[in-house]
Amino acid sequence: MKLWGGRFEQPADRDFEHFSASFDFDRRLAQADVRGSRVHAEGLHRAGVLNDGEAASLAWAFDQLEAEFAEPPDMQPDVEDVHTYVFERLESMAGAAARKLQTGRSRNEQVALDLKLFLRDAHAALQQGLGRLVAALAGFADEHAAVLMPGYTHMQRAQPISLGHHALAYAEMLLRDRERLADAARRMDVCPLGSGALAGSPFSGARDRAAQALGFTALTQNSLDATSDRDFAVETVFALSLLGVHLSRFAEDWILYASSEFGWLIPGDGYSTGSSLMPQKRNPDALELIRGKSARQIGHITQLLVLLKGLPLAYNRDLQEDKEAVFDAVDTALACLQIARGVVATTEVDAARAAAAVADPALLATDLADLLVASGVPFHDAHGAVGAIITAAQRQGRDFRGFTQAEMDALSPGLDMAQVAALSDEQSVARRDLPGGTAVAQVRAQAARVAALAAAI
Ligand code: ARG
Repeated sequence: MKLWGGRFEQPADRDFEHFSASFDFDRRLAQADVRGSRVHAEGLHRAGVLNDGEAASLAWAFDQLEAEFAEPPDMQPDVEDVHTYVFERLESMAGAAARKLQTGRSRNEQVALDLKLFLRDAHAALQQGLGRLVAALAGFADEHAAVLMPGYTHMQRAQPISLGHHALAYAEMLLRDRERLADAARRMDVCPLGSGALAGSPFSGARDRAAQALGFTALTQNSLDATSDRDFAVETVFALSLLGVHLSRFAEDWILYASSEFGWLIPGDGYSTGSSLMPQKRNPDALELIRGKSARQIGHITQLLVLLKGLPLAYNRDLQEDKEAVFDAVDTALACLQIARGVVATTEVDAARAAAAVADPALLATDLADLLVASGVPFHDAHGAVGAIITAAQRQGRDFRGFTQAEMDALSPGLDMAQVAALSDEQSVARRDLPGGTAVAQVRAQAARVAALAAAI
């Protein structure tokens, strides 16, 4: 294995070579490495380090390799890292010109640049995956806006809500994830090329031209920071870990609502599994895995933060440990987004089960209290009175809407049974016709708004 360094008398220890090798994972940076090398070579050409012929033969080699590395190169047993591999390939194609390429350039800036270029593409894919899932949630919400279900707090039935409203709550979280990622991508948009190993390169020529050629809008302003900064990786992986938490909560709700105890969601066959033992089972494994994978994502952000916290300036080899976390965070997020979208798109709704659950009259307790409030009773007092009414009804196994006026007067004077009897889930939901509320018309409007935002990704 070729390790860099000119001052050693003994070859590297074989076990250490393997310990230090990163090619089996950083080969995913091959195409980015070629892109950065091409722009660095152009700078060397302008600076007169490479003559026209050398620049041309390197340009040809870059074209070959960039096309070849649309897929990461195969594992090679004897390569330390992707930068060495690209160098070796270039040398075999362009000879001495390739050996000039490392003039003024270090793998320290190379790896920082490569990871940014990789993440830029990853961000585009993540935005697309998020957009697709948000669009699916908006479609689901619009279709099922008029299906009512119990809304929960403390996992206790609280008030009737639209099933569409519930789905759109997750769309809101995902839209924030999208913004967080876009924000991280914006801050990442500074080019480190020209930083050298740590102090800046005397050979790079115009840094701004290189940055522009690589599609960056700005330059890093401190070479020590630029070669050892991984904030962009941390911010991306944090955004993905929070996305993982959101998807985990989503999965948890859908698992619950698909269980026999709740039963108003039926995820599609394509995302459900059977039991090897129990023939009746229809297990939500897809959702359970989405929930489970959030643990990895939280692990990745923890790993990156701990990795960075004790590092002195500037580059230290510890930083090689960032890549597997970054790659897996991106892969896991993309896979979870895709599977979650499939679950949402194929889930059917058992409106009868939802209707049976939402028929619990206790869900109307707040609306009953509101009736007292309308007749001038302070809400605090109304709260106490309704508590007594609900308790009495439950003790008698009755719906309070069926009380006689006399029975109601005995519990709480001032309630008109005609109004009480008219309380319903539909009416409760319809009353919440304000921005952000659960009224069916609001949910439909929100679904349209969210669908438009999803399409704009
Ligand atoms: N494989 C290294 C990494 O991932 C590349 C940079 C190595 N630089 C060095 N001076 N050893 O960070």
